[in-house]
Amino acid sequence: MPLQDTPSRYGLISRALHWGMALLFLAQFASAAAHWALPRENALRETLWSYHVDLGITLFVLVLLRGIWGLINLQRRPAHSGALGAAAQAGHAALYALMIVVPGTRILAAAGSDRGLSYLGMTIFAPREAEIAWMQAPSEWHGELGWILALIVLGHIAMAVGWHHLIQRDGQLQRMTS
Ligand code: HEM
Ligand code: HEM
Repeated sequence: MPLQDTPSRYGLISRALHWGMALLFLAQFASAAAHWALPRENALRETLWSYHVDLGITLFVLVLLRGIWGLINLQRRPAHSGALGAAAQAGHAALYALMIVVPGTRILAAAGSDRGLSYLGMTIFAPREAEIAWMQAPSEWHGELGWILALIVLGHIAMAVGWHHLIQRDGQLQRMTS
């Protein structure tokens, strides 16, 4: 299988990023769901929440790399035609935008906070003496935007598996699988 994308299929690197990140997003949404649904002292909540920041930063770095790889491959990627194709492209663009904005809001807030930010034990931003208010403001939407991302992912899976694979049987799913 080629490393790069071709007009008929996504290549190895796009697939590794797509499926690897799909698994990591599942773990990230599990952590967010536990944070939302379970009481504070719950052991499962603490375990799932313990990796939320490190995994969130990892996903942020991966989506930037994936975006660059997508742009490099833009001319040879599988095409989307017709009205449904345009809707699929708009859906993918929304997924990319939220995959950047959701972790981005919290990373921005941490950069302007009096607590700083560490990634896997390394200091990324040292704590500030005074918080910067405009850097905190967008993070109020972090959770809501995160849940909107989860809903669009569900719609994306329903379209890929339900519509394309089970109803239309048009081989679109195979562009990412075989
Ligand atoms: C793509 C990556 C991420 C996703 C999908 C995501 C998703 C979410 C969601 C859905 C919630 C709401 C949970 C609830 O309702 O209780 C949440 C909360 C939170 N997340 Fe993330 N997150 C990501 C990355 C990050 C990063 C990078 C940080 C820190 C730098 C972070 C810090 C927090 C904090 C502190 C909360 C609790 C306060 C709040 O709801 O804003 N997250 N996250
Ligand atoms: C069971 C889960 C999933 C299935 C079955 C699935 C299926 C697919 C398929 C078949 C394609 C190719 C579509 C085409 O060429 O029109 C695709 C592309 C895409 N998927 Fe998924 N997907 C899943 C999970 C996810 C998740 C969790 C995300 C992001 C959070 C995501 C984001 C994307 C994006 C942005 C594309 C556009 C191509 C790219 O830039 O990689 N997918 N998906």
